Amino acid sequence: MSAMRFSESVTGTILDGVLVVTIDNPPVNAISAHVRQGLVEALDHAAALGMVVGVVITGAGRTFVGGADIKEFGKPPVEPTLPEVIERIESYGKPVVAAANGAALGGGSEIALACHGRVASDKGNFGMPEVKLGIVPGAGGTQRLPRLIGIAAAIDLIGSGRTVKATEAIALGLVDSVESDHLDAALSLVHDLAGEPLRRTGMLEVPVSEPADVDAASKKVLSRARGQTAPAEAVRLVKAAAHVELKQGLADERATFVRLRDSVESAALRHVFFAERLAGKVEKLDNVTPRKIEIVGIVGTGLMGAGIAVAALTSGHRVIGVEQTAEAAKKGRERIAGILDKSVQAGRLAATVRDECLARLAVTADAGELAAADLVIEAVFDDLPVKTELFQRLDGIVRSDAILATNTSYLNPDDIAAATAHPERVVGLHFFSPANIMRLVEVVACKVTAPDVLASVLAFAKKLGKLPVVCGVTEGFIGNRIFSAYRREAEFMVEDGAAPHEIDAALEAYGFPMGIFAVYDMAGLEIAWARRKRQAATRDPKARYVEIADRLCETGRFGRKSGRGWYDYSSGERAADPEVTALIEAVRAAKNIEPRSFTPEEIVERLLKAMADEGAALLAEGIAARSSDIDLVMINGYGFPAHKGGPMFVAETQKDAKP
Ligand code: 3HC
Repeated sequence: MSAMRFSESVTGTILDGVLVVTIDNPPVNAISAHVRQGLVEALDHAAALGMVVGVVITGAGRTFVGGADIKEFGKPPVEPTLPEVIERIESYGKPVVAAANGAALGGGSEIALACHGRVASDKGNFGMPEVKLGIVPGAGGTQRLPRLIGIAAAIDLIGSGRTVKATEAIALGLVDSVESDHLDAALSLVHDLAGEPLRRTGMLEVPVSEPADVDAASKKVLSRARGQTAPAEAVRLVKAAAHVELKQGLADERATFVRLRDSVESAALRHVFFAERLAGKVEKLDNVTPRKIEIVGIVGTGLMGAGIAVAALTSGHRVIGVEQTAEAAKKGRERIAGILDKSVQAGRLAATVRDECLARLAVTADAGELAAADLVIEAVFDDLPVKTELFQRLDGIVRSDAILATNTSYLNPDDIAAATAHPERVVGLHFFSPANIMRLVEVVACKVTAPDVLASVLAFAKKLGKLPVVCGVTEGFIGNRIFSAYRREAEFMVEDGAAPHEIDAALEAYGFPMGIFAVYDMAGLEIAWARRKRQAATRDPKARYVEIADRLCETGRFGRKSGRGWYDYSSGERAADPEVTALIEAVRAAKNIEPRSFTPEEIVERLLKAMADEGAALLAEGIAARSSDIDLVMINGYGFPAHKGGPMFVAETQKDAKP
């Protein structure tokens, strides 16, 4: 029978007496208005056809349904709403079975939950990632999921937003079966269910959960919420499912969904979602073919190099690590193996995958081995003569089509490129430490970097599972330049009367995992001190300069590892230190500064403004392509709370809010 079209994105075919409805709304089959309309049309059609015994709903392509259409949020609602479609499915007179060919996320899972049976392919997976967008499920997820899998498991899934693979979904009771021919299995299930009383999820009793399990699941979710509203609301709604009528639970859920959807927190997280998908897209590279990168050379296998090696290995690359001596090469290999072992112990990596990674790893003192590499990343000491000498040496070793990347944090990659015979193949890849964990990579386009070199490292970074953000050459790139401006402003406030711990408390209350002075102490103060000393001769003598950090270093206070920095760590805890207070007071007195007090609001406002102003300068200079890239750098590299959207988002929304 030929396919029937119910809307621009929903078609149907009758197979074996069952209407198979396919949602085809690329790229992820989001539930746009025409999908909802098409589903209702299809259900109406199947209800009217006596020869049709039931309905199977499936998705075209790799995804079942990627959730509500996030691009419709904030626009006037279009009927039918998703809860209406879902109610129609659940109360339908004939069996409806979901055949999950791929990801069933958010509203996609909610459609599946309302069906009378669920079959998944082995690629099927389920999740309700709404909390990651600052919302709760809005089409019955918080009420139907606990009826299938219990309160504690539903709190875990909805509160964390994590996705479960088909095998876990079956263990949880979320799907009925996982089949390689999921469509065929779904058709059989419809026939099995036909004529029987239908199992309507919303009518099921919520299984009794152990209170201790519910408590533990809730605590876990709330402890990770870091000031966000949605996870706590999700927990509340799921718990309510145990004791309120379905209708009441659904009404509460919908009202909460609408309230959160219209919140700044959700707007911020949606901004981050779209910013991540935009990052790394460079218009002029649209038609450029990236080079193949399979073998990665890494010069320097210290903390940073080893982290990069692990990221490359776990994403399937061969890695050649290079050190200066055989002894250092042995240590480098041990360091890399140690990180892989830790990942196995933490349950993040299967032992078999670790073994495969180690089989693809060679660490050697013979730089000549880099002749096989498609890409060489240097992660050696951040010193210009060291790096230029290394790049010149690499010129003579690597293939003519190999790419050379520097992982410098502060040096000028243009200077490094200029020292080589082929500067067009040089690029910056600024990883963040630990490089196997941190997602952010600043991809630094040098003045003459060839387009296909840039395209290749962007593709490589994505293959590593990283979030690449392209930036131009400037001291400290996007992140460290903003961080410097932010730190400068924080130090101005300390000099003017705020205590470091007051500034940190204000930042932590805003949502940063750690205040700036605590971060400073954790990273160590001596590298920045050395840089300030180098820059002293060229510093504008008229510019305001705060000497407190220099004074701290002069007294041997280098941060956590020396037990003392902006704080005292001798008790094992971070504690404000009267010695530091006295030192700050002495600096203020020497400059005749009368200290004044700062409210937490003023502290945060000034720091956000310093970040946004520096971000605006980076945009004006063409260093960053878009303000959303700057937000991603600050969120993924510097602990800026994602649910606030980033400093540029905050500045832009405040500007829009002003009359
Ligand atoms: N709505 C609108 N657009 C979406 C979308 C959605 N739910 N999900 C993804 N897209 C868009 C992306 O913006 C991107 O667009 P672009 O090509 O213009 O940049 C495109 O689809 C492809 O997305 P990805 O690059 O993320 O594709 P992947 O293949 O890597 O991943 C995915 C696919 C796993 C489905 C991933 O896109 C994803 O996680 N999407 C979001 C899922 C989600 O949060 N769903 C819940 C929505 S809220 C909801 O359902 C509320 C309900 O309870 C009422």
